[in-house]
Amino acid sequence: MSRKKIIAGNWKMNKTPQEADALIGALIPAVADADADVVVCVPYTALAGVTALTKNTNIAVGAQNMHFEEKGAFTGEISADMLLALGVKYVIIGHSERRQYFGETDASVNKKTLFALDKGLIPIVCCGESLEQRELGVTNEHVRLQVKAAFQGITAERAAGVVVAYEPIWAIGTGKTATAAQANEVCAVIRGVIGELYGAATAGAVRIQYGGSMNAANAEELLAQSDIDGGLIGGASLKAEDFTAIVKAG
Ligand code: PGA
Repeated sequence: MSRKKIIAGNWKMNKTPQEADALIGALIPAVADADADVVVCVPYTALAGVTALTKNTNIAVGAQNMHFEEKGAFTGEISADMLLALGVKYVIIGHSERRQYFGETDASVNKKTLFALDKGLIPIVCCGESLEQRELGVTNEHVRLQVKAAFQGITAERAAGVVVAYEPIWAIGTGKTATAAQANEVCAVIRGVIGELYGAATAGAVRIQYGGSMNAANAEELLAQSDIDGGLIGGASLKAEDFTAIVKAG
């Protein structure tokens, strides 16, 4: 089964609205003929500007987080409807930085994933092991557990529409990339879990990204692996030339 590659930038807490507009202005013509799906996950404050600028282009916009309740007294949170009203299509859920610094758990990741699907947003669900877990040899078990927890209660019809991002924590922002073989091995494990839960067709359809210091130089090799269907790119997504090169590699 051939899966369309999906290259997503995760800008994290970078770029004012003005800086975001400038970067998007450079990206629009640069990635216009991309074969891959192109997504930019920008800060909330840049969403209005970036969704307006990317209307009628091949760049889709994502948020970096979202709350799992419809609305109400949740100071500082952003709802799915708020994102949808701006034309946002994707939402990153359970990034390791949110798990590490902001108390995100497997349970909240599951609630958010379910809610995003209910609302028609495409969740990019993150998983990945710490350096300690890799050194202990429990990477596969850990990632399997994260994926099973995230997919809890998701129906078979919806499961294939989830994007999973495998991001080894030790490779994020460190310049240390997993080797293509290491990354592919864990992506295959993730596909295996999805196969156990939903069967071979769903496992063959679901798109699994690699993330963690992916850049213009290593993207091609990573994206050529059998079970890697795209990238979630932090640092290298902040420069138009670098992100464009990764998109082209996809
Ligand atoms: P990085 O971040 O590309 O800067 O390592 C990836 C991510 O955290 O999504």
